[in-house]
Amino acid sequence: MSFKILRGDCRDLLHWEVLREVEFSRSIDLTFLDPPFNQSKKYKSHKDNMPENAYWQWMKEIARRIYDITSFGGAIYFMQREKNAEYVLRCLRETGWEFQNLIIWKKMTSAIPSPIRFGKHYQIIAFATKGKKTRTFNKLRIKPPLKPNYKQERKNGIYLTDVWDDIRELTSGYFAGQEPIRDNEGRRFHKQQSPIKLLTRIILSSTKPGDLVLDPFAGTGTTIVVSEQLGRNSIGMELDPENVNIMHQRMSCMRDADNVSGFMEDYHYTKNLDCIWPKIE
Ligand SMILES: C[S@@+](CC[C@H](N)C(=O)[O-])C[C@H]1O[C@@H](n2cnc3c(N)ncnc32)[C@H](O)[C@@H]1O
Repeated sequence: MSFKILRGDCRDLLHWEVLREVEFSRSIDLTFLDPPFNQSKKYKSHKDNMPENAYWQWMKEIARRIYDITSFGGAIYFMQREKNAEYVLRCLRETGWEFQNLIIWKKMTSAIPSPIRFGKHYQIIAFATKGKKTRTFNKLRIKPPLKPNYKQERKNGIYLTDVWDDIRELTSGYFAGQEPIRDNEGRRFHKQQSPIKLLTRIILSSTKPGDLVLDPFAGTGTTIVVSEQLGRNSIGMELDPENVNIMHQRMSCMRDADNVSGFMEDYHYTKNLDCIWPKIE
């Protein structure tokens, strides 16, 4: 498989000319869009406190550019804070995308408490496509754990729904294991690193082997790490040179913590799993 890591502002890179230059003279089949959320987080190369209007104008511009280079029926998964659901849906609709699902990614342990409202315990991922009909949608089956004294076990698992509560987040204030990339003091290198399990699910659902996956805000490169293992081509764009370096390192020497093969068992009951998850030597 082939992957490309492009350093720069994705606004300048989301063009046909760039795809041709990096030898992918073909359209994008799936985009994972995980931008800074404009919540005053510390980024080295980006100011995360834009005026709200300017931020959503920016997001619209990005969403439209991705739309232009996406194949017909191709997909976008736009991750955001739950409080921005209204803006996300409007941003996608006004840039031509067709709504498919609003996925609730329920966090396993972390919640943001509040004295005036319920604690926040999930993030949204809006799934939309270019045109009403999806180019690829693989209906994954999972085996949710059975709670004690609950009904009988389902022998063949269940189809995945739009509530994902089985993917552990890496970004909360507890020790999230070996998966987050860490510095010499054990601190997480990038506070917004996405779990490989999340990208495995998205890529398996909306692409075929050999397809082209894009991540315009690639961060530590989770999307390309997973794409490579699933036999998909990929492009990661990133503004911060330190993140670009980490991405190159992550791709040149695969860590055990980045190995997705352990998740195959979760999808054991999926009909065409052999076709959508090819064996890579
Ligand atoms: C929420 S993080 C993405 C994390 C990523 N999903 C991962 O698994 O590591 C957003 C990233 O976008 C980068 N970024 C901010 N502005 C950008 C721009 N204009 N073009 C490309 N990357 C940008 C930031 O440096 C940051 O690494």
